[in-house]
Amino acid sequence: MRAADIADDLTDVLVTEEQIHEKLRELAQQVAVDYEGKDLVLVGVLKGAIMVMSDFIRALPILVPLDFMAVSSYGASTKSSGVVQIRKDLDTDIHDKHVLIVEDIIDSGLTLSWLLENFASRGAASVEVLALLRKPEAAKVEIDCRYVGFDIPNDFVVGYGLDYNESYRNLRDVAVLAPHVYS
Ligand code: IMP
Ligand code: MG
Repeated sequence: MRAADIADDLTDVLVTEEQIHEKLRELAQQVAVDYEGKDLVLVGVLKGAIMVMSDFIRALPILVPLDFMAVSSYGASTKSSGVVQIRKDLDTDIHDKHVLIVEDIIDSGLTLSWLLENFASRGAASVEVLALLRKPEAAKVEIDCRYVGFDIPNDFVVGYGLDYNESYRNLRDVAVLAPHVYS
């Protein structure tokens, strides 16, 4: 569905599906150059990153294996708890591999800082981050994110994989959730 189909639940549309696809094509070209000749593994963070991952890998002009990790941090709240728990671990041994974490959004940065440390301790050759969205004003820890799609304001957003209470993931665009939905 598009933002217009549920206009009452949303305030602003921040990024359209078309803008996302265009940006992912650019980032894919860059990643293909940066990782040429390297043993690369993409790791998506479930469930939010499913859309970014599926569009990003198809935009890549190189063959690459992927894996997924599921961690919990939010529950049904709209604020990060900072408590990270592994719900599904990697199937891949990432020792000596160049890992590129594919994320939907960097909000407080707490989840990613935890993941970066966790992957480094498994002996990855390198660990970098690709995030479709980033909220610079929400950062509690600085994340060195090599590939960023869009910097957005510090509002709770949904769509393109991002949920509120498991809903809105199948919205094609990224939009600000109207406060009346969650207050
Ligand atoms: P963190 O605050 O950077 O640790 O964000 C952790 C996770 O919370 C992200 O990977 C998202 O899945 C989710 N999240 C953060 N901000 C939003 C938002 O605005 N809408 C929906 N999910 C969010
Ligand atoms: Mg996520």
